[in-house]
Amino acid sequence: MCRIIVLLVIFFLPLFGQAQVDVHEASGEYEYPTDPLVREKLDKWQDLKFGVILHWGLYSITAMNESWPLVNELWKRRDTTKTYEEYKKWYWDQSKSFNPVKFNPQKWAEISKNAGMKYLVFTTKHHEGYSMFDTQQSDFKVTNGPFANNPKADVTKYIFEAYRKQGMMIGAYFSKPDWHSEYFWWPRFATVNRNANYNTNEFPKQWKKFKDFTYNQIGEVLGNYGKVDILWLDGGWVRNPQPGEMEKAYVQSSKSYYPPYPQDVDMPRIAKMAREKQPGILVVDRTVHGSYENYRTPELTIPKVQLKDPWETCLTIAKGWGYTKKAPIKSGTWIIQTLVEVVAKGGNLLLGWGPTAEGEFPEYINKPLEEIGAWLKVNGEAIYGTRITENYNDGSTWFTQSKDGKKKYAISCIKEGTTIPATLKWKGNIPTNGKKIKLISTGKNVVWKQEGDSVVIEIPKELVGSQTAALAFAF
Ligand code: GLC
Repeated sequence: MCRIIVLLVIFFLPLFGQAQVDVHEASGEYEYPTDPLVREKLDKWQDLKFGVILHWGLYSITAMNESWPLVNELWKRRDTTKTYEEYKKWYWDQSKSFNPVKFNPQKWAEISKNAGMKYLVFTTKHHEGYSMFDTQQSDFKVTNGPFANNPKADVTKYIFEAYRKQGMMIGAYFSKPDWHSEYFWWPRFATVNRNANYNTNEFPKQWKKFKDFTYNQIGEVLGNYGKVDILWLDGGWVRNPQPGEMEKAYVQSSKSYYPPYPQDVDMPRIAKMAREKQPGILVVDRTVHGSYENYRTPELTIPKVQLKDPWETCLTIAKGWGYTKKAPIKSGTWIIQTLVEVVAKGGNLLLGWGPTAEGEFPEYINKPLEEIGAWLKVNGEAIYGTRITENYNDGSTWFTQSKDGKKKYAISCIKEGTTIPATLKWKGNIPTNGKKIKLISTGKNVVWKQEGDSVVIEIPKELVGSQTAALAFAF
């Protein structure tokens, strides 16, 4: 255990100023799936490299920190003019005003596609418990509020359809914890923190109801909305404490508390049903390691080194997962260079933002997304469908290779705010004698020479002094 923690600390240093107290880190262990259909899907998913995660729910109305102010934990701030109970009531009552009249999923999918994104993960239900699909297990859902009579009221259906139409893989984010469910936060007791608010060992009947509720809802998401490729399960703290250890889970603290007990939502049953409904689906039970975590998901971090097992980092374009009014927004250059680094290290980048409560993408995502879309349109060959290569990095140059190993790619990042220099140099990955190096953006070979164990490229004159996030070479 100790070794794992040390490794995690070394590999997954927080990357940004925005790093939250509560970021999830990648698991230290990984089990390669055995089901051939899952392996096939995993391989296809590894080709995609760049996806979008959309957080949309009641929290979008006030641009708050998705669901979290509901939790009685000190690290999450909320309106203190209300008592906690008043606050919860106010929060749930937002369901009476969620009315996204400008909802236009085709436009969302187009914007995402033009940015070069190849898959979607959408919050069918976040921790707040408000279902963005037409569940039969609860009335707390988008199809039951002011939007109920809109032809697109069952928003999950239309979002999945629109993204599928753009050729993207579809991922259903689903929060296992459900703070609105009486089976998770039982009104009989106080809700002290994010965990189930009763001893699940002492009340097995109540807990069984929660497990069935979760199973049924996941069944609806995977059974009623067409083809789904990824079941992205969030909230790794649905755990069943051991007798005598419950008080710890109740301690009010400025740090989040994850009970160190095994998960108890009956994942084998959920996964079996998931694969009956969606053969080959990737099950990503994040942070709960083992056979139901088909790829790993370090959150708001990039591993320090290349990893051979499949992984995806989720990062936000603004500050926060859901809709936020807050600047700063990451630049196009930052996203491009981050994607390059992530891919060279063997991962996928899942970039997140949130639509407004009216149902529109925020304006501020346009510029950076257009920039990355334009870059990928030209340079995508060095990114999509590639695999890792052993010597994957030298300074600001990152390396990938084609799946068949016949072609290598070098992607040299140009520091934001600077211009393309007359020569570029990288160490290692020297093309074998006589091999040509092509600059992908021009389609033309460049003049290069070997200096010791380095490659020195002469940049075409017309490009020197201009700006780009990165130049990609193939050889
Ligand atoms: C964390 C947060 C959650 C967010 C998710 C996205 O698990 O708790 O709010 O949806 O990260 O990766």
